[in-house]
Amino acid sequence: MKIHVTDQSGTQHELEGLDGWRVMEVIRDWGLNIKAECGGSCSCATCHVYVDDAWVEIVGAPSEEEEDLLDSVGDVRSNSRLSCQILMNDDLDGLKVTLARSAA
Ligand code: FES
Repeated sequence: MKIHVTDQSGTQHELEGLDGWRVMEVIRDWGLNIKAECGGSCSCATCHVYVDDAWVEIVGAPSEEEEDLLDSVGDVRSNSRLSCQILMNDDLDGLKVTLARSAA
């Protein structure tokens, strides 16, 4: 399954991911500019992405814990998510996200 990622410089990438992977892991393992300092335990917010409007509902709402953490980053928007908290599955094949500056 594939995800489409726009990096901080506006370049688009099509990345192959596996069912059950965190979106953050896909982005990191393909070498894009994402810090993901805490390794996916929802405690750093350096895996911040913007979910494309067409995908926001499919991806679903963040947990309260994730929302609290997102509040700590400066460039948060209504479609902000922490990509370590989004797990790949068939429904997300073709997902589009943009890397936030705070992820770099
Ligand atoms: Fe740290 Fe996602 S990798 S919150």
